[in-house]
Amino acid sequence: MEDSELDPSELGTQDYWQKAYTKEIENFVEHGDPGDVWFGEDSADRVINWICNCGVDKDTAVIDLGCGNGYTLSELAREGLTNLLGIDYCEEAITLAKKVSNTEFPHIKYKVFNITQDSVAELGKFGIIHDKGTYDAIGLNPDDPKKHREKYIDQVAEMLSEEGLFIITSCNWTDEELIKHFSEKMKLKRVIPTPQFKFGGKVGSVVSSVVFTKK
Ligand SMILES: C[S@@+](CC[C@H](N)C(=O)[O-])C[C@H]1O[C@@H](n2cnc3c(N)ncnc32)[C@H](O)[C@@H]1O
Repeated sequence: MEDSELDPSELGTQDYWQKAYTKEIENFVEHGDPGDVWFGEDSADRVINWICNCGVDKDTAVIDLGCGNGYTLSELAREGLTNLLGIDYCEEAITLAKKVSNTEFPHIKYKVFNITQDSVAELGKFGIIHDKGTYDAIGLNPDDPKKHREKYIDQVAEMLSEEGLFIITSCNWTDEELIKHFSEKMKLKRVIPTPQFKFGGKVGSVVSSVVFTKK
């Protein structure tokens, strides 16, 4: 059966993120506010805890795809991880992430990079690939979201090391949908349990966090 796509949204455009992060830079400079933690701190911290307890070496190469203000990387640095790279296609996000984290964690590297366009060969391989909300944004692209999602999946598979873990958190796709989308290139390792709600007799989750390994 054909995958159904999300309704297009401005959240799927670079223009939206440029404006959002321009405002967030101003807020940070004026009030020290580092900006939104997408899907809330609980869902971020759940994944950060999982990563820190999954047995990875502290110097494992970690990349955060669409890192935004760099919250996840800063928290991983706080837990002692040393080999951290954040990429985002928005230069403003990278500027914000550097401003927020450079003093405390100068070893976190950041790079402007479009995960559905640029060549991942220049980035190398990673033991941990993390995404929270970026595959969601890509799926909202008003211009051929399926093409962009498929390119994203190919790129992630290419960057993942043989024993590496790809950890994705989404609020637009269910666990089952994520497993289906990635099944050609990735094997399911674990669904990280997230709080569930019940509505009209059906049980669902507000966010899904799924861990994959290379196939
Ligand atoms: C919902 S935000 C999540 C930000 C961050 N991961 C977090 O959890 O706070 C989506 C992020 O994906 C970035 N993004 C969207 N499409 C991208 C692409 N093709 N390449 C790189 N980054 C992208 C946006 O600039 C934005 O920072």
